[in-house]
Amino acid sequence: MNQNIFVMDHPLIQHKISILRKTTTGTNEFRKLVDEIAMLMGYEALRDLQVENVEITTPIETCQSPMLSGKKLAVVPILRAGLGMVGGILSLVPSAKVGHIGLYRDEVTHEPHEYYCKLPESIDEREIVVVDPMLATGGSAVSAIDFIKQRGGKNIKFMCIIAAPEGLKRLADAHPDIQIYCGHLDRCLNENAYICPGLGDAGDRIFGTK
Ligand code: PRP
Ligand code: URA
Repeated sequence: MNQNIFVMDHPLIQHKISILRKTTTGTNEFRKLVDEIAMLMGYEALRDLQVENVEITTPIETCQSPMLSGKKLAVVPILRAGLGMVGGILSLVPSAKVGHIGLYRDEVTHEPHEYYCKLPESIDEREIVVVDPMLATGGSAVSAIDFIKQRGGKNIKFMCIIAAPEGLKRLADAHPDIQIYCGHLDRCLNENAYICPGLGDAGDRIFGTK
């Protein structure tokens, strides 16, 4: 497997993804689980954040101690469903900036269409984490990362909860320089480009639409 692809094997992540998949999991619980999974995955994905020693004073003495350094992290959800993962990352890095990329999949061609893009300033100097629960054909993720690179973004990680092999390959082929974190690698896509077994439409389940 590509060295930049990381499939999570933590039992807590796997357990929570199984509950997420169930048709009986309602909107409230679904949102909470997406938030928790994003946080657990973020803990893993952000293990290479830069730190620098700064002087701090404890009740006992003064010492050099590591703290996050450099420009603040940028979290970029792909709308809509990616919004559900933002809180989990912000609970780890509350100072992060948040950008947004609005894409929807055409129901017939399954190709993504952009309707919104706003990124934090100096995006070229930031670590960027693009989040979207679902990596299906990979079209949305590839387009989102194209947009970010066109605007100067360089240090990019992509985080999804469930990936299809087709989407994972398409994203890794299009953007071999980025790190891809997925919670679970599923079997395949169906004729409507939905992930099997998947969890259905992530946006609808997070926002209670349809
Ligand atoms: C879903 C999902 C991804 C995309 C994945 O969004 O959240 O963005 O599909 O599919 P792909 O890998 O084949 O591009 P959708 O287009 O349904 O929009 P929504 O989040 O607004 O519901
Ligand atoms: N988007 C979703 O929300 N679910 C899928 O299975 C595929 C794309």
